[in-house]
Amino acid sequence: MSHVVNFAVSDWAPRLDAETQASIIDALESGDVVFLPQLEFVLEEKERTLFQSALLGRSKNISFLPAKGELKGTDSIGSERHVLQAMMARFARATADLTSHLLGLYAGELKQARTSFRPVEIVGRQTSWRKDDSRLHVDNFPSSPCGTQRILRVFSNVDPGNHPRHWRVGEPFESVARHYLKTLKAPLPGSSRVLQTLGITKTRRSEYDHYMLQLHDRMKADTAYQQRAGYTDVSFPSGSSWMVFTDHVSHAAMAGQFALEQTFMLPVDAMHTPSQAPLRILEGLMQRRLA
Ligand SMILES: [Fe+2]
Repeated sequence: MSHVVNFAVSDWAPRLDAETQASIIDALESGDVVFLPQLEFVLEEKERTLFQSALLGRSKNISFLPAKGELKGTDSIGSERHVLQAMMARFARATADLTSHLLGLYAGELKQARTSFRPVEIVGRQTSWRKDDSRLHVDNFPSSPCGTQRILRVFSNVDPGNHPRHWRVGEPFESVARHYLKTLKAPLPGSSRVLQTLGITKTRRSEYDHYMLQLHDRMKADTAYQQRAGYTDVSFPSGSSWMVFTDHVSHAAMAGQFALEQTFMLPVDAMHTPSQAPLRILEGLMQRRLA
């Protein structure tokens, strides 16, 4: 079972010795959740109004691309939109600071991707089984193939109502992969080129991405697995933060509202122990290269 490992960090630019940084990386790469119970993303007064209004468009999250300053998934306009965008940009900067201090041993290989704000209460949310994140799953992106990149995410519970965010953390990736290995279907020849040509994927979908998306779907669609798979309940209080490789750690978000999340991508070869990457684990089980 994956573990939750606590680190006493209360500053977004903490000074940590190399040994502590290495132990954080070891924990993340081995599939643990790195929990930072004292690390609060403090809201500014003007941002508090965002938590009382209906900000969402049709999607379940509001997303922000720090590199382009692009905001998506919200119907908000005018000054409200401006405050929302500024809050997400502030979170993007805070997590860039955090990771450069905590994960500095990755030496600039970690690249910042999308920021998201998740304002919807998970309990009672109407969604399809595929989008239902309250079912155990591992992450992959249908339209943005990962290839040889890992998905590292930093979360902060920013609920002004002080409700915790509840997760389930499931069994290790290799157990999940072995469980579904014989049921995974190879991609149709030429399908990755067709997906890219049609604009369904931004780049060529690797065999690895194909199998990871299948794992995501098999896990979520498998009611029996959801009921009998081992998991640990984890509660992240409002005012806390956590980091996890979500392509590796089986997870489900069970309850809670108002979280900020920042995605980072890391090349498998930049890991301290690349053999722990889901790409390498799947390649080992299938005995061939997948990306
Ligand atoms: Fe997820």
